[in-house]
Amino acid sequence: MLRPERGGRFVDCTLGLGGHAEAILLASPSALVIGIDTDAESLERATGRLENFGDRFIGIHANFKELAKVLHSLGIKTVEGIVADLGISSYQLAAPDRGFSFQQEAPLDARMDRSRGQTAADMVNTLEEAELADLIYAYGEERGARKIARMIIRERARQSIETTSQLANLVVRALNIKGRWRIHPATRTFQALRIAVNEEIEGLKEFISTAISCLAAEARFAVISFHSLEDRVVKTAFRLESGVCQCEYGSRDLLGGFGDLSPAASAYPDTDPDAASKAVERPSAAGANVVCHRCGAKKRVIVLTRKPIRSSSEEIQINPRSRSARLRVCERVP
Ligand SMILES: C[S@@+](CC[C@H](N)C(=O)[O-])C[C@H]1O[C@@H](n2cnc3c(N)ncnc32)[C@H](O)[C@@H]1O
Repeated sequence: MLRPERGGRFVDCTLGLGGHAEAILLASPSALVIGIDTDAESLERATGRLENFGDRFIGIHANFKELAKVLHSLGIKTVEGIVADLGISSYQLAAPDRGFSFQQEAPLDARMDRSRGQTAADMVNTLEEAELADLIYAYGEERGARKIARMIIRERARQSIETTSQLANLVVRALNIKGRWRIHPATRTFQALRIAVNEEIEGLKEFISTAISCLAAEARFAVISFHSLEDRVVKTAFRLESGVCQCEYGSRDLLGGFGDLSPAASAYPDTDPDAASKAVERPSAAGANVVCHRCGAKKRVIVLTRKPIRSSSEEIQINPRSRSARLRVCERVP
C-alpha cells in the first residue's frame, strides 16, 4: 500500500527492530528511510540491523508526535510515505526488565522511553481509586476495573506495589476467577497501564494530523493498530481529514461524493493499490481541500481502506500476534 518501489523518502515512525524499514529499503535502491522510535534500545538494535544500507537509513530517537520537528532538523519538508505500527514490539514485551508483561518478574515500569515520564508503579501507587478504575476501564476495557482499583488501594496501604508479579497476583485475587483461564486475567490491566504511561491515545490524534501535514502530494500514510481504541482514533481522524463533515449537519462528504464514504470510492476494492490515483483523476477532485467552518473538516486525504485490512489466515498461522492487527491507509490529495 505504501508503494515503496517508487523510491523517495519514507518515514517509519515506529521503527522497532526495523522490519518495515528494511522492507522499504529493499523495495527500491532509491528509497531513503528515516526511522523513529521512542525506545532507545530498539533504535540501537535496528540501527545495527540496517547498517548495510549506509546513508539510506537515518535512525532518530524521538516520539512520533515530534515528526515535523525531526524532518525539519533534516531539512526535509515532505515525504513520499509514512508508516506507523502502533503499540509495543514483541521484543519489548519479552524483555525481562521492562515491566510490560506479567510473564516476567520485573520492576513495574512499562515506559517505552525510559529517559522520561511516570512509570506504571508511580501510577498504581499514587492515583486515586476512581482515577485507577476509570483508567483500567477506559484503556483496558476491563469490566472488573472497580474491583481491581479497590484491591490496589488496599494492597498499597500495606506495601507499595513495585513489581509485575505483585500487580498480576493482585488482579487475579480481585477478579476471583474460578477454574482455568484462556487469557490471563491481568492482560487488560497491563494493557491499560501501558497505554496510560505512554500516553498512547492522547498522542495518536496529534500524530495523525502532523503526519498528514508532512505528506507530499499523492504520498501515502499507513497505520497499523492492535486494539479497538487505537483503531477508532485512526478511523475517526482519517474520516475528518478526508473531508467528511463531523458537525451537527451529519456525516456529509464536502465534495459531494468524493470522500471515503462515496459510492464511487467504494467501487475500488480495499486493497487496490491504484485506487487513489484512479480517484484523483476524476474531475470533481481538482484542487480538493475544502474546509467546513463549523467542524473544521478539511479534505487533505482520500482513504484507501474503507474497511481495515486484516491479516490472512496464513499470516496468522506464522505470526499469531498479527490476528488483532488492522491496517488503514490514506493518500494525500494534491
Ligand atoms: C509494534 S512495534 C514496531 C515493530 C516494527 N514495525 C518492526 O518491524 O520491528 C512499535 C514500536 O513503536 C515504538 N513506539 C510506540 N509509540 C511510539 C511513539 N509515540 N513514538 C515513537 N515510537 C513509538 C515502540 O517503542 C516500538 O518499538
